[in-house]
Amino acid sequence: MSIIARELFFQIFESGEIEGKLPFFMGIDIQPLVAFSRTFHPKTVIEIGIQRGETAKCILENSPWIEKYIGIDLLPGARTSLPFQQGEIPAIAGEYVKNDPRVELILKPNGSRDLSPEDLPAADLILIDGDHSYEGVLFDTLLARIIIRKGGIICWHDYGNSHVPGVTKLINELNIKEGNRICLIQPGLFGLCFQFA
Ligand SMILES: C[S@@+](CC[C@H](N)C(=O)[O-])C[C@H]1O[C@@H](n2cnc3c(N)ncnc32)[C@H](O)[C@@H]1O
Repeated sequence: MSIIARELFFQIFESGEIEGKLPFFMGIDIQPLVAFSRTFHPKTVIEIGIQRGETAKCILENSPWIEKYIGIDLLPGARTSLPFQQGEIPAIAGEYVKNDPRVELILKPNGSRDLSPEDLPAADLILIDGDHSYEGVLFDTLLARIIIRKGGIICWHDYGNSHVPGVTKLINELNIKEGNRICLIQPGLFGLCFQFA
């Protein structure tokens, strides 16, 4: 696994400082995401697993250059692959960003699994934070790798989180196969990883 120290990360990229409280699920892992946005000015961003939109709100508030922010999630009443994720399905997906005209929500019975690459635009920044099962992260990774623009960034959340071992397993397998292209930022809250396309 390639690891970049958080301190070095913020020497290379722009500041990740934000005003207001940290998003519940992302905590301090929001800061590298905001830093990527401030450094590379993505126009199209996709978040798989937008939940209530707390992370989306932080990114959007700090990124006037973003033109489109697509949030993907499950419809209420859907069934998650991992039983403990059942309680994460938001009653109102994206509610924190509902008034931002740049946001488009895609809510499906099986979330991202109901999508194919043709359903999504080419993206500059993709955050994978939806179905945390091995199969779910694999599906989202393959999808993201098709639609990411050259030079764009794919981020994964929850590497090393013992509650969701499938994320770690998949990223480790990809790194062994592909030569450590996915890098972990440490320390963080729940293991934010990234790869440049
Ligand atoms: C940990 S929460 C995401 C938190 C959010 N990214 C944030 O930072 O505020 C996981 C989300 O993934 C969603 N989810 C689970 N399976 C999914 C799937 N197959 N496709 C899309 N979203 C999914 C859940 O409903 C939940 O909203």
